[in-house]
Formats: sequence, C-alpha cells, structure tokens
Amino acid sequence: MAKKKFAKDSATIMTEMVLPNDTNTLNNLMGGRLMHWMDVVAAIAAQKHSNRIVVTASADSISFKQPIALGNVVTLAAQVTRAFNSSMEVHIEVTAEDIPANKKTVTHRAFFTFVAVDQNGKPIEVPEVVTETKEEIELYEGALRRRQLRLVLAKRMKPEDAVELKSIFNLDIPQ
Ligand SMILES: CC(C)(COP(=O)(O)OP(=O)(O)OC[C@H]1O[C@@H](n2cnc3c(N)ncnc32)[C@H](O)[C@@H]1OP(=O)(O)O)[C@@H](O)C(=O)NCCC(=O)NCCS
Repeated sequence: MAKKKFAKDSATIMTEMVLPNDTNTLNNLMGGRLMHWMDVVAAIAAQKHSNRIVVTASADSISFKQPIALGNVVTLAAQVTRAFNSSMEVHIEVTAEDIPANKKTVTHRAFFTFVAVDQNGKPIEVPEVVTETKEEIELYEGALRRRQLRLVLAKRMKPEDAVELKSIFNLDIPQ
C-alpha cells in the first residue's frame, strides 16, 4: 500500500438531476436524498484514497439554508482532506444549477468521516494525505480540530485531551 497519496487523487464528482421522486410536497429536493448522495460521493472519494472498503463513521452537522428545486442539476464534489490512522475526513461541496436560467449556487458544504476496514470490518491503516493547493492546505490544517470536536461529541475523546480544540478557546483575556 502507498504510504502517501495526493489529496487530488481522491477527487470525485457526481452529478444528479432532481426528479419528482426526489422531492418533498413543495417540489424541492428532500434533505434525506441529498444526504444519501453526499454519503455516496464521499464514500467513493474515501475508497479512492484508501483502496479499501470504507464505512461512514460520522457526518458533521448539515444545515439546509436554501431549497434545491425540482429540475435543478446537483453537482457533488468530494475530496479527502486528511487521513489519520484508519479514518479519513472528506469535504463535500454541493452546487445546484438551474441550467435554463444559467444560475449556479453553492448550496452546501459538509465533512463526513469514513473508516477503512478489512473484510471483517476491523479498522485498517490508510495512506497519509499530501496537499498541494492553498485550499487543500487550509482544509488539512483544520481537520485535526474538527476531528477532536467530533470525537469529544461522540464521547470518544476526553475534552481535556482535545489540545488542538482547546487552543482555539484559550483566549488571553485579562481578568
Ligand atoms: C466506524 C467503526 C469502524 C469504528 O470502529 P471501532 O471499533 O470503534 O474502532 P476504533 O475505536 O479503533 O476507531 C477507528 C477509527 O474510527 C474513528 N471514529 C470512530 N467513531 C467516530 C466518529 N463518531 N466520528 C469520527 N471518527 C470516528 C476513530 O477516531 C478511529 O480513527 P483513527 O483510526 O483514524 O484514529 C465502527 O464503529 C463501525 O463499524 N461503525 C458502523 C459503520 C457503519 O455501519 N456505517 C454506516 C452507518 S448507517
């Protein structure tokens, strides 16, 4: 197995059109359908990075600020930001496009975490991520803090051990 891989080698693009079966009663894309597409595109990116079977470990909070309408074309772009031992953080950006109106909007950004597993479902090591662009470096640097936050929330890490996270809140305010 390669010890390191470029972030860009995991880049995955998925394009869907919002059809009647994907919508709620207001003719907008159902949140659950969007999350399903996000899970699929992110899993493919994590597989490309690890060349392993991967399982979803967590999905960070996703908010629905604006609806995506019936007939819109939805593009989901996913890329691994950073790998730890067996886990990989994947960034997903969702764009909705009304092609006849020539209007394109980034509607969502989210982070999912996947774990590479062997045939028995046991976590297995993955290659490190090599970054190249400014955006990849920013995402890579933020990943440790996001990992600590999600592990504390999942009660898998003691808050006092979340050193990277604590450093953000350790403001030097005079008493
Ligand atoms: C995810 C899973 C493989 C972790 O297994 P585990 O026995 O708890 O293994 P570990 O404690 O060694 O953790 C393995 C990795 O998962 C990460 N992890 C576990 N829970 C996590 C969570 N809630 N959020 C983020 N990462 C998590 C750990 O940090 C660790 O990462 P690292 O190896 O990079 O340090 C296991 O819980 C599982 O199979 N879950 C079900 C997955 C699934 O079915 N997904 C579909 C959901 S419907």
